[in-house]
Amino acid sequence: MTQVPPAAVMIAARRQLDRLWARGNAFLGTKVAIMGGAMTWVSERNLVAAISNAGGFGVLACGSMPPALLAAEIAATKRLTDRPFGVNLIVMHPQLAELARVCVAAKVGHVVLAGGMPTAEIIKILKDGGAKVIGFAPALVIGKKLVRSGIDALVIEGMEAGGHIGAVSTAVLAQEILPAIRDVPVFVAGGIGRGEAILSFLEMGAAGVQLGTRFVCADECVAHPDFKKAFIRASARDAVPSVQLDPRFPVIPVRALANKATAAFMATQRSVIDKVDRGELDMKAAQLEIEHFWAGALRRAAVDGDIENGSLMAGQSVGLVTQAQPTAAIIAELVDQALAALAARARDAAEAEAEAGAA
Ligand SMILES: Cc1cc2nc3c(=O)[nH]c(=O)nc-3n(C[C@H](O)[C@H](O)[C@H](O)COP(=O)(O)O)c2cc1C
Repeated sequence: MTQVPPAAVMIAARRQLDRLWARGNAFLGTKVAIMGGAMTWVSERNLVAAISNAGGFGVLACGSMPPALLAAEIAATKRLTDRPFGVNLIVMHPQLAELARVCVAAKVGHVVLAGGMPTAEIIKILKDGGAKVIGFAPALVIGKKLVRSGIDALVIEGMEAGGHIGAVSTAVLAQEILPAIRDVPVFVAGGIGRGEAILSFLEMGAAGVQLGTRFVCADECVAHPDFKKAFIRASARDAVPSVQLDPRFPVIPVRALANKATAAFMATQRSVIDKVDRGELDMKAAQLEIEHFWAGALRRAAVDGDIENGSLMAGQSVGLVTQAQPTAAIIAELVDQALAALAARARDAAEAEAEAGAA
């Protein structure tokens, strides 16, 4: 039997992986087309810079920051890395246009618009200012609409993800959207925790991937130690979506580790619904009160370390988070897993060929 030299196999595997995510790397300006999904209160300067310095693409979470704070955070991140990184803006932020102008003034190369359909005005401010704009597509129709509106790339995020989630799984979204949208690079997110999964989405046509949960226990991540410990302890089934109590008040489900806050969210919904029924609160105010519940709760857990009463937003891939690691080690591990899968396949093919030749 012909022995394929392992070094040659690994070189071929690396070339193949580089080809598979070449479009994503060209778009992001990276070596490794892995985006660190923005996580409010978690994705600040240190984690973002660490991901970019490790060859990936860090994304700052603006969350509810005012424009001046975002400007300061971008400047601080630039002091920690000279590699490309992005900024994630939530489209319902009341000062969205100002935040977009902050990104343009700071020459942020990529802006991710999350939490709803961005307006033409916002896309124009960003694109005229030279930024590439990335949108979230929770369904094929929305993806097509975003492409028509001039968006430069898409993230498709399945319901396995942590934080606010859609209704469809990553596997199904990928099958619906990847073959149908080829005009712009598409990055797959939600439930990804190993390199083999990254490889499979790249082979389906993804330009790259986005991971959030997997980076929470990175050494450089400033999340509270107890928040990180909860991630290390948890298994996939502990990361559950919040439940909507009343169809009049739609709740965008939030996936988080079950704790006292999970029950408190139900109680909040119940009390808000009662207030509306008694005429003490209008529908709009009630909806806002329900939506605001998790914003404050995430800060309590991720910053203050109150892991019972705060929100432990986490994706199902939390089951694959087993230890604290440097960010560079996490990225290296993901890349090595993808390479090992490619190399194993190449060895199998070479052996099959050799056996066929010998027969
Ligand atoms: C704690 C936490 C906070 C998050 N905050 C945001 C956010 O502010 N904006 C956003 O677009 N996505 C947010 N996400 C989603 C991530 O950016 C990312 O898309 C998601 O974590 C990917 O799925 P995964 O967790 O299975 O890797 C958050 C996720 C987590 C776990």
